[in-house]
Amino acid sequence: MLYADYNATTPLDPEVRAAMADALGGSFGNPSSIHSAGQEARRLVERARAQVAGLVGAEPDEIVFTSGGTESDNLAVLGALAAAPAGRSGVVTSAIEHHAVLEPCAHWRGQGHAVTFIGVDGEGRLDLRALEAAAGSHIALFSVMLANNDTGVIQPVVEVARTAAACGALAHSDAVQAAGKLPIDVNKLGVSLLSFSSHKLHGPKGAGALYLRRGVPIAPLIHGGRQERILRPGTENVPAIVGFGKACELAHLHLAADGRRVAELRDRFETEILARVPGTRINGVGAGRLANTSNIAFAGLDGEALTINLDMLGMAVSTGAACSAADQTPSHVLLAMGRSEAEARSSVRFSFGRETTPEEIDRAVALVLQVATFPRGARP
Ligand SMILES: Cc1ncc(COP(=O)(O)O)c(C=O)c1O
Repeated sequence: MLYADYNATTPLDPEVRAAMADALGGSFGNPSSIHSAGQEARRLVERARAQVAGLVGAEPDEIVFTSGGTESDNLAVLGALAAAPAGRSGVVTSAIEHHAVLEPCAHWRGQGHAVTFIGVDGEGRLDLRALEAAAGSHIALFSVMLANNDTGVIQPVVEVARTAAACGALAHSDAVQAAGKLPIDVNKLGVSLLSFSSHKLHGPKGAGALYLRRGVPIAPLIHGGRQERILRPGTENVPAIVGFGKACELAHLHLAADGRRVAELRDRFETEILARVPGTRINGVGAGRLANTSNIAFAGLDGEALTINLDMLGMAVSTGAACSAADQTPSHVLLAMGRSEAEARSSVRFSFGRETTPEEIDRAVALVLQVATFPRGARP
């Protein structure tokens, strides 16, 4: 299988698998137990917390473990809003957020609060002027993603956090796609909350983290024991947390080299496709993008049909976020960028990663040529 869907999920790193196997085998204690089996599991969880914190420049006690990006986003948004001071209940977010942010925001709006969805330009960049115009003393939270999952376009989170601070609001960023691909320092970004997820950076599914700046109040979404400082009760998923920690350590270690290598491969892929497939256009090409992501519109073709045909030839790609792939609607991200429904439907997301090889890029180009030029009668 030629896997080019790293933004949907990533394969488990062998070192992560080994660390998890150790944790699954021996350290089965409950980290909240005071006996030594429990304390051994606690030690593993705390080591992972330090590894996870290290990836984003946080202190270990600023990390709350969750079940993944979706839970981190919900805890950030709804948890911050539930703890906001009286008179502050407004939210400013973007129209291109993942549904893990859009839906809690829509839920909040359904409860009668003001929520503003800021648009983007034709390249997928946030309209900062509109964001500043939406600021005010009634706003409790700004939530803007660090990098978009469909296009890879990087968003101006430093400016968002500055605007939030100027009006006394909190800033959250969904860094689920950015973590492990971009260097992240929560202090340089200036955010109080940042979400990320294990399975996007070669860790296991079912683990994630919310960075929560010291002293920032949020309310838990679920209620139970005292785990994760009462913010996320429930016995910890120790093997997944151990794997997540190891994956963060490796991502930190390999980030710069992986980024350079993948950027070269992605750029070569795009150059070949643009030159050889008529009617192609890269969505977001004029903006700063993640090094691994390539979202390509194939004029006159159907992205879903291309995806299915590529799958039959052994190549995995997607038309957008995996969790909305079943609902048949075109990408809300591409529509927000001003693309027509037809253009949005003609787009395919290719996302490469740590295991992608130059040979795979050559093969990917050949397969895309085969499926994208065949219907027009110009088979290569
Ligand atoms: C930007 C973004 N946010 C949130 C999520 C949800 O993360 P998870 O799959 O860990 O729940 C995803 C997953 O695709 C994502 O791309």
